[in-house]
Amino acid sequence: MSWSILNWVGRLLLNSSGRWRKPKRENCPSQSWRLFLPVILVLLFGGVSSSASEDFFSRHWQIPIPSQSGETPTPESCGQCHPKQLADWAQSQHAKAFSPGLVGQLMQYDSEETISCLACHAPLAIQQEQFLDGGEAAIERWLSDLESLSFSHGVFCVVCHLRQGRIFGPPTNVDTTSPSSSILTPNRYHSRSKRSPEFEDSRFCAPCHQFSQEILVNGKPLENTYREWLDSPYARDGTHCQSCHMRDRQHLFKGIHDQSFVEQSVSIDVAITDRKAILKLQSSGVGHRFPTYVVPRVTLKGGLIDGSGRPVQGSQREKIIQRQVRLESDGWEEVSDTRLYPGESVELIIPLFTGATEKKRVRFEVWVDPDYFYHFITYPRILEELPDGNSKNLVKRALIEARENRYLLFEREIESL
Ligand code: HEC
Ligand code: HEC
Ligand code: HEC
Ligand code: HEC
Ligand code: HEC
Repeated sequence: MSWSILNWVGRLLLNSSGRWRKPKRENCPSQSWRLFLPVILVLLFGGVSSSASEDFFSRHWQIPIPSQSGETPTPESCGQCHPKQLADWAQSQHAKAFSPGLVGQLMQYDSEETISCLACHAPLAIQQEQFLDGGEAAIERWLSDLESLSFSHGVFCVVCHLRQGRIFGPPTNVDTTSPSSSILTPNRYHSRSKRSPEFEDSRFCAPCHQFSQEILVNGKPLENTYREWLDSPYARDGTHCQSCHMRDRQHLFKGIHDQSFVEQSVSIDVAITDRKAILKLQSSGVGHRFPTYVVPRVTLKGGLIDGSGRPVQGSQREKIIQRQVRLESDGWEEVSDTRLYPGESVELIIPLFTGATEKKRVRFEVWVDPDYFYHFITYPRILEELPDGNSKNLVKRALIEARENRYLLFEREIESL
């Protein structure tokens, strides 16, 4: 996510002559992340955990994930016996990890840079080989037939569940949605399957949802989800990422792109007195900062409206919930960070002026723009630089899709007293 921002903005700023130039390494944290991978694993998996878990995670998340012998099972082949997981996963962002916005950028990268992005977006060695060896032809195929290539599945079943021909999964669950064992015709995936409690641990998700501690922007990495969770009351209660994002072991991985998921996790109230109207938003069910990444923007808006519903000039106010960053010549800088901690709330206050004859009405809105940084900054800058062609078309498509993800989370009109 943000790394593509890093990479690209880094490139574009360096590119003052208007010619294409390779980014400097230090401006390209995805490169640095690769160098520091062992450090991340030590930091995340050391200390707190038993050494058995430590071993599990460092074995399980060797990236790129070594190739299996034989063909890599597609999501559909697992879905023959696990239709529910397949249907849910197919709607998730993990299924979309190999996206036009990613590919549009990768087409401009050398193989080393490409691999650094694929570490999270397509982490199997086979996905990376297929993509790099296939070149333009693979992308043409990807464009015409999204399903045919394993790299295009993004973060799919095998990425989390298959190692050396063995299925790894969570401990048995009484409410399991797995097919009953009677359907289990001996099949090559399950003959030696292994159940591990680590599947229910937040550290399982951390390799792709936490950047290294080596590059800090105002004291914290650009992507800091696992640490934010670790510092939250949810970690102390033992409420892991999976409890919220895989409720009942569902594979939907809902997040900020899903309006009803966000509605259930924040509480929004409106109050009015004779002097002011107040909109209050509280983060009531989010297991990390709301929102956790530098990409989304949440905006609280409010103001007086006249009899025909038009905004009264001078009365409109807004508050932005976002970690705002920008790239300077010496690296990333944090402009502001108004994201909410778990339990924290923010208020937008609209003064109601006394003495006016007309009865006053107030209108409040809360907007969520999950891909703000992408469609507002990253993609437009890339488009300015790219020559016409496949790459540019993909980035244009990504920009439109990213902009369309914006939604109105809340609206309310009230009469003043
Ligand atoms: C440490 C893991 C990680 C790495 C490495 C990484 N990303 Fe991402 N990327 C993510 C996550 C997680 C998201 C989802 C963010 C969200 O939903 O807000 C994301 C989202 C994106 C998106 C927006 C969603 C989409 O797929 O269109 C793009 C584009 C993207 N990344 C491109 C890149 C590029 C280019 C690189 C390499 C420079 C890269 N990423 C490296 C984890 C990573
Ligand atoms: C021929 C049917 C079949 C296919 C194909 C199949 N599974 Fe399963 N799977 C089962 C059954 C049945 C169970 C339940 C086993 C039990 O309860 O002990 C299961 C259980 C699981 C579990 C729970 C943990 C475990 O190890 O028991 C996971 C995870 C899993 N499968 C993943 C996968 C993945 C990933 C694929 C594709 C590579 C796949 N399965 C393909 C039938 C299948
Ligand atoms: C192999 C890397 C990888 C692992 C492991 C991984 N994710 Fe992700 N995740 C990603 C990427 C990449 C994206 C962004 C996909 C995109 O939009 O391009 C993502 C997106 C998400 C989102 C979507 C949020 C939104 O923007 O709406 C959620 C939620 C999520 N992951 C939760 C989890 C949880 C929970 C786990 C652990 C069970 C997990 N992830 C494990 C790579 C990973
Ligand atoms: C990002 C990692 C990730 C991906 C991708 C993924 N899973 Fe899972 N899967 C998990 C985790 C983590 C659990 C355990 C969740 C828990 O216990 O809360 C799990 C649990 C399961 C189970 C056990 C369910 C039960 O009720 O016992 C099955 C079966 C399964 N996955 C199949 C699949 C299939 C099939 C796919 C592809 C369509 C898939 N998974 C994709 C991480 C993943
Ligand atoms: C108590 C429930 C809860 C827990 C625990 C939790 N999340 Fe979330 N998460 C949410 C909610 C609700 C959202 C949507 C609001 C938001 O974006 O902050 C979200 C959003 C996200 C997103 C979307 C991107 C963004 O900018 O917000 C990602 C990625 C994510 N979570 C990953 C994780 C990971 C990884 C963990 C574990 C380290 C985790 N979450 C733990 C509830 C939770």
